[in-house]
Amino acid sequence: MKLLSSLLTIGSLACGFASAVSFSNPLKTKDGSDPHMVYSNGYYYLMTTTWTNLQITRATTLAGLKTAQAKVVFTDSNAARCCNVWAPELHNINNTWYIYYTAGNKDNLDGQRAHVLKGGKNPLDPYTYAGQLTTEWGIDGTVLRISNRNYFIYSCFPSANLQSLCIAPMTSPTSLDLNSKKVLSEPTLAWERVGNPVNEGAAPLYHGGKTFVAYSASFCWTDSYQLGLLTYKGTGDPLLASSWDKNATGTGFKSANGNYGTGHNAFFTSPDGSEVWNIYHATSISTGNCDGQRYTMAKKVNWNADGSPNLGKADALSAVLAGPSGE
Ligand SMILES: *[C@@H]1O[C@H](CO)[C@@H](O)[C@H](O)[C@H]1NC(C)=O
Ligand SMILES: *[C@@H]1O[C@H](CO)[C@@H](O)[C@H](O)[C@H]1NC(C)=O
Repeated sequence: MKLLSSLLTIGSLACGFASAVSFSNPLKTKDGSDPHMVYSNGYYYLMTTTWTNLQITRATTLAGLKTAQAKVVFTDSNAARCCNVWAPELHNINNTWYIYYTAGNKDNLDGQRAHVLKGGKNPLDPYTYAGQLTTEWGIDGTVLRISNRNYFIYSCFPSANLQSLCIAPMTSPTSLDLNSKKVLSEPTLAWERVGNPVNEGAAPLYHGGKTFVAYSASFCWTDSYQLGLLTYKGTGDPLLASSWDKNATGTGFKSANGNYGTGHNAFFTSPDGSEVWNIYHATSISTGNCDGQRYTMAKKVNWNADGSPNLGKADALSAVLAGPSGE
């Protein structure tokens, strides 16, 4: 035991002094849109939009994701949800993995709905179709957890041409109480309305006892597609917009250093759990882009004195960055 603990001490000292594994962006060059990633039991699990199926890329480091082989975990021949497969997200609820995603028909985008798959104890275990979550148009679904309750936030059209964020309580990991659905955020501010008024791609963020929801604003076919932020007031019904503060200027996370339309993000934790990282997509096309030409990028989140997230700016693709702590 003595020898073992000495070896462990030397091992952790060596890790402590070693520099983090470095990486450069992008993590995924093509079809890197709408990224979502979790770190679990030694691996990162990355999902992005492929339009045709659901794929998971797994690696032990961010750098490793660049060459790892993606595994197709689900395809669907049902005409109502075969196609336009967008924004997949992996969530662990009660020790079971679920994939929340958007899909519709092959002809147009009017059939886009939120769906869910049920998996197993390991993110790469087989998945089976577990249900359609929204009856009307709904995309970019994610799970928000407040006070041991789960809520589903997704992008909806409460009125014509006002693509907003809706929220509904989850009655189980595979069903919503749509009768209690509310509008959480509408694109009312000038920077949310460039090209088209849009709020989409909600991304919950938990830190220091606070709960935030980042989201993407403005139309993706512009360079103004960017991240906004809602902050939960700490009390009040999470379904009500009045329980949240919306930052009037956004997060400042927008086109920078040759990356345009930086948005549709998610947050993941570093292997040692000490850091939060932002994973997002961008394009080098200066007028913006909504298709598979968007690539996946990652950047560490810093924190302002008041506890709010400081997302910084997207780094140039030439930058070599220190990887997440604990790699
Ligand atoms: C998790 O499982 C427990 C025990 O079966 C159950 O009471 C609870 O409702 C479940 N939570 C969710 C979010 O499904
Ligand atoms: C809104 O976000 C900006 C950029 O992060 C920040 O400087 C500002 O303090 C925030 N405003 C509020 C009211 O939180």
